[in-house]
Amino acid sequence: MAQYRCTDGLPGDYHLVHLGARAMGGAALVVAEMTCPSADARITPGCPGLWNDAQRDAWARIVAYVHRETDARIAIQLGHAGPKGSTNAPWDHTGADRPLPAHNWPLLAASALPYLPDPEEGQVPRAMTRADMDRVRDDFVAATRRAAEAGFDWLELHCAHGYLLSSFISPLTNHRDDDYGGSLANRLRFPLEVFAAVRAAWPDHLPTSVRISAHDWVEGGITPADAVEIARAFKAAGADLIDCSSGQVSALQKPTYGRMYQAPFADRVRQEAGIATIAVGAITEADHVNSIIASGRADLCAVARPHLANPAWTLTEAARIGWTAIDWPAPYLSGKSQMEALFQRARAAGA
Ligand SMILES: Cc1cc2nc3c(=O)[nH]c(=O)nc-3n(C[C@H](O)[C@H](O)[C@H](O)COP(=O)(O)O)c2cc1C
Repeated sequence: MAQYRCTDGLPGDYHLVHLGARAMGGAALVVAEMTCPSADARITPGCPGLWNDAQRDAWARIVAYVHRETDARIAIQLGHAGPKGSTNAPWDHTGADRPLPAHNWPLLAASALPYLPDPEEGQVPRAMTRADMDRVRDDFVAATRRAAEAGFDWLELHCAHGYLLSSFISPLTNHRDDDYGGSLANRLRFPLEVFAAVRAAWPDHLPTSVRISAHDWVEGGITPADAVEIARAFKAAGADLIDCSSGQVSALQKPTYGRMYQAPFADRVRQEAGIATIAVGAITEADHVNSIIASGRADLCAVARPHLANPAWTLTEAARIGWTAIDWPAPYLSGKSQMEALFQRARAAGA
């Protein structure tokens, strides 16, 4: 989850503590926030990058910590903000998705359409030329190489939420009339080109996932049926998993929120495209995870906001349901038996 705590794209002590704590908290895999292949690919000036070796080395320190002190794996998510770049952190100035008050940088997108519908509010991006596509693809490749050098175990390509690659996929944001617009196959052409280049630069034995918006929640936008086609295309290009998020492509979206509300997309993509999926969104209890996995609706569950509240979410949920066969960091072991005993007492009391 984006933290907006970097300077010059450099992850620091904040990220070591943030990611290290979640890895120590029982998560099998921690996924670092969207990390950008160039300075102008950032959502905000506080977003992390992998466009230079200093950033690579800063990430390597965090990866080494996770590997040394925990049994977790750690993933990097590479993404380009595209039309949603050059904005505030959500709590700054005028709020999320709003342009910076000063020092904005030019934006790129599939088409020259601002994310916020009122042109007074949102910066208008430039429709990418073929030369822009070459530059962005090569930046992704260089960032991928640095991610591998930093020791990450897994790479996710961010093709969701209205950011640059997502802006090509959705018909709401892609109005191009060249080979990169029109049919879904055309709209996927550049995202697939980037994915193929990333996959080729990433070590063969390490997995990749692609995060998609499986539903735009807007009439005329991407639907779950399209998501199946999108998943098939990335599967054919070598993706191992599809991470099924939704929305944030159009400010006009009308999502239907609720417990596990995006799990149906992971389920449908898994069954129809025949690829492993990650379910995400309002999965807040071990029982949610277990029912999604046991019923074959997804292969993994990603848990985001609950980890903001509780870095040891996985250890806590395991103790809550009485699952004791889980490793805690050795120095924390006396906390394990106490927490398990307290939950056991609460269960016995019918709480
Ligand atoms: C503060 C915050 C930052 C986020 N940053 C990212 C991000 O960097 N990349 C991404 O793909 N999704 C991001 N998301 C979306 C989450 O990954 C997740 O899909 C969403 O919060 C729904 O899951 P949850 O109900 O478990 O929080 C972010 C969400 C929040 C709340």
